[in-house]
Amino acid sequence: MAIEIENEEVRVWDPLIRLFHWTLVAVFAVAYLSGDELDQLHVWAGYLITGLLVFRLIWGFVGSKHARFSDFLYSPRQVIGYTRSLFARTPRRYLGHNPAGGVMVFLLLFSLSFTVGSGLVLDSGAGASSMTEIGQVVLRTKAWADDDDDDEHEGRENEMLEEVHEFFANLTLLLVFLHIAGVVVSSRLHHENLVRAMITGRKPREPEG
Ligand code: HEM
Ligand code: HEM
Repeated sequence: MAIEIENEEVRVWDPLIRLFHWTLVAVFAVAYLSGDELDQLHVWAGYLITGLLVFRLIWGFVGSKHARFSDFLYSPRQVIGYTRSLFARTPRRYLGHNPAGGVMVFLLLFSLSFTVGSGLVLDSGAGASSMTEIGQVVLRTKAWADDDDDDEHEGRENEMLEEVHEFFANLTLLLVFLHIAGVVVSSRLHHENLVRAMITGRKPREPEG
């Protein structure tokens, strides 16, 4: 009997995607909560998320079937059609990400990339101009040799960059809330537990109900 039940399930999320997801959840929480103090912990969490994003980018091209970007890259028409069917409570079921979920994954990955990107530039201490190593040396030497104006200028650039960093951190958080709401709504409408699927990697071949 137990074997029969197992046969009714399909492998959807590979182990690396699941490890990626739950590590990201934990480390994102650490990065967000440690953001206000310029802390080693924050920077390390940020680097770890950068590594996770690089992995996800590669896995989006060479990973398992439902991990590939091409598996959940839908046209605007398909996304709108799916969203309409959600409101009509008659959505089609997808084994991988549905069209609305797929858009959300891309938005999350983009917003996370801008957050870590601005964080890395902030951490390099080089302000908002072009961030090559040579550029930094020139900036620093200038700031040291010249009058206070340059220091002030650099300070303003850093402030702007901090604003950008904070904006994307908060945008990501907003997307995360929408993402979780989407997971709850889809789980209810399809009578399946998507969170469980992200833990075990498996989904029922046909959902109940
Ligand atoms: C998804 C990852 C990240 C999140 C959610 C995040 C979030 C935040 C938040 C909420 C703040 C506080 C902003 C403020 O109140 O002024 C902050 C500040 C900061 N973050 Fe990040 N961050 C991330 C990644 C990074 C990375 C990768 C780095 C660099 C390696 C970094 C470097 C900094 C620095 C230097 C500050 C201090 C800015 C200040 O002086 O207030 N962050 N971050
Ligand atoms: C406790 C909170 C969370 C829960 C319960 C949750 C749940 C899920 C579930 C069930 C999926 C699969 C969706 C599907 O079946 O189509 C998923 C995917 C995803 N989630 Fe979350 N999530 C949470 C928090 C987060 C956070 C904080 C982030 C990012 C900062 C995030 C980023 C993602 C990404 C990028 C994917 C796509 C997975 C992939 O294909 O790589 N999630 N999440």
